[in-house]
Amino acid sequence: MKLIIAANWKMHKTAAEAASFCNQLILQEKKFTGVEVLVCPPFTALAATAAALEGSAVKLGAQNMSWEEKGAYTGEIAPRMLKEFGVSHVILGHSERRHIFGEDDTVIRKKLERALQEGLTPILCIGETEAERSAGKTESVLERQLRAALEGLAPESAGGLVVAYEPVWAIGTGQAASPDDAAAAAALARAVVGKLCGPEAGSTLRVQYGGSVNADNIGSFVSLDPVNGALVGGAGLEPDSFAALLAAAAETAER
Ligand code: 13P
Repeated sequence: MKLIIAANWKMHKTAAEAASFCNQLILQEKKFTGVEVLVCPPFTALAATAAALEGSAVKLGAQNMSWEEKGAYTGEIAPRMLKEFGVSHVILGHSERRHIFGEDDTVIRKKLERALQEGLTPILCIGETEAERSAGKTESVLERQLRAALEGLAPESAGGLVVAYEPVWAIGTGQAASPDDAAAAAALARAVVGKLCGPEAGSTLRVQYGGSVNADNIGSFVSLDPVNGALVGGAGLEPDSFAALLAAAAETAER
């Protein structure tokens, strides 16, 4: 299964900084052919990023979107506005959206349905908090999040979906999950998606691991079968560190 690795820039980079990153990254593209690569800039840098990526295989993702098509929703961004710039993927339900901005399972479900309707590929983020993990609730939390987002979807619409397993306690802490725990969560996600959306959706699903991924540890995650890529924060902010991470992943995938 082709690896999919995305840099989530969060609230970093002006348009000029984003373009400069892309110009430098694509010079190193040969190092990571065979990996599907995405950058997910802030909305204000989408146009500059799209322009800088022209002619490259690196794809464009967004970090969020509205569940509405258009209308009186001050401050929101519609899917159509993303597609105008060639956005193909959209991160939905990131833990920062859930925990800092109060997005709940219902909101994430509405966004996911809209993304599918608009032909955008959702990168659906799931993950447990430290407290939920300590209480032995990891599996039930992941299953609840998946069920809320996906239950009852038409099986044909769920093909090609991406799920990112990002344990909240591993994000930005330098303390990544163990590869075995990431693989167990990824296998669980595949099984639950298969159960909810049918075997086809389960088998075409790609599951990323996210949380303190870097060039040194990426190989230990993507060498395990259930893990099909990564969602990267900090290590995706500099072109050289992201290129090194992608090269390490490509090398592992070739073995
Ligand atoms: P870090 O890679 O900085 O831990 O961030 C992970 C993340 O939240 C990506 O969406």
